[in-house]
Amino acid sequence: MTDFIQMIADLVRLGLLGDQASIRRLASRLTKASDKQSPDEVRLRELLVPLLSESEPSRSLRRSNDGRTHHISRESPPVDDSSFFPLVHVDEADEAPSPFLPNDVERVVQQVVAERKRPQVLQAAGLEPTRTLLLTGAPGVGKTMTARYLAAQIGWPLFTVDLAALVSSLLGKTGQNLRQALNFGQRNRSVLFLDEFDALAKRRDDDSDVGELKRIVNVLLQEIDRWPPTGLLVAATNHPELLDRAVWRRFERTLSLPLPDLALRHAILIRTLATHNQSLADGDVTTLAIATTGMSGSDIGRLTSEAIRDFVVGNDPHLTPILTARALNYLKRGSEAQRISYAGLANAMLGMTQREIAQHLDVSHVTVGKYIRHWATTNSTSGQDLRPKRKAGAQSNGKKQ
Ligand SMILES: Nc1ncnc2c1ncn2[C@@H]1O[C@H](COP(=O)(O)OP(=O)(O)OP(=O)(O)O)[C@@H](O)[C@H]1O
Ligand SMILES: [Mg+2]
Repeated sequence: MTDFIQMIADLVRLGLLGDQASIRRLASRLTKASDKQSPDEVRLRELLVPLLSESEPSRSLRRSNDGRTHHISRESPPVDDSSFFPLVHVDEADEAPSPFLPNDVERVVQQVVAERKRPQVLQAAGLEPTRTLLLTGAPGVGKTMTARYLAAQIGWPLFTVDLAALVSSLLGKTGQNLRQALNFGQRNRSVLFLDEFDALAKRRDDDSDVGELKRIVNVLLQEIDRWPPTGLLVAATNHPELLDRAVWRRFERTLSLPLPDLALRHAILIRTLATHNQSLADGDVTTLAIATTGMSGSDIGRLTSEAIRDFVVGNDPHLTPILTARALNYLKRGSEAQRISYAGLANAMLGMTQREIAQHLDVSHVTVGKYIRHWATTNSTSGQDLRPKRKAGAQSNGKKQ
């Protein structure tokens, strides 16, 4: 009873502080701690449970790309019935930046959007729009960004399933939560995003939980199959090899997002610099695009913003050397394949000598010679998308204004 009274006092304290998440957690504990023999406490539980299951209110109106206002997701997202945490987060952003993707991947993304914008064309041909899409690729290549972009372009809310809230310690509960989250996406027109999809599939390796895994896979198989054409399910994973093959086959489209090539790194660098109100001479961006070989879009974003942070608060009048030094440090710690690619591209496109490259990479010029020959035999067509602009270091922009 003392604990119970203490909890009520804590609840009031949290209420005064405006800490909603903690109030929710504590109130949830309060409902569990209540004494089933005490009519007052039973009554308190009856009052609290419905309050807790009401999640954050979602906006019920939204303007889509065609300019019309639609009624959507009047329903609140489902919650885990022991923690009361929402199983789905609702994001109704009207705009999202477009990911830079290779042409073949970009074509599919645009097609998925076009199918939703001109449904009558598909219907006339007796076809249905893409309902399920699986995105695979290394960390930071733009899977989440692509899901957001799809939702914003189509003009639907993005429902992201919260795996941490979904996975329950209670036997049988995870499958039930998953079904609730998926059914919510099926009932409310949306792009439902199952991020870190492998986290569900990975559980196969856990021998103690085979029964639960079977339940989860069965839920996925059933629900993916019956996804309505009025919605879009997007799943993403860094580990496609861990997915159950039957689940994998259920997806109508699978898109593999690669690490960005030279031209895409160039584009990502320009956008990231612009986001921070910076720009560099085109030749410097090319040099950096070469020096960021093997990096993901996310790595490039981080590298650029860290360098800009150093630049704006430091005394160095030029941004380019800070960025180049950071990129080269990354390369030195990276894989040999990255250094080979850097040596080959810097030599072929920037006309850098073996000695200059050796200095950049902290290796002997003999090693650089080997790298360049290796690159020439395996990547002879790489880098043709950007023409050689200048010799490295010949000119530098990015001066402090
Ligand atoms: N292809 C891309 N084009 C433009 N920017 C990108 C691209 N890929 C990544 N980025 C940048 O990196 C950030 C993180 O990318 P994102 O979260 O989409 O990667 P992810 O593939 O979902 O990674 P993870 O597997 O770790 O979830 C993006 O918000 C964006 O700023
Ligand atoms: Mg992601």
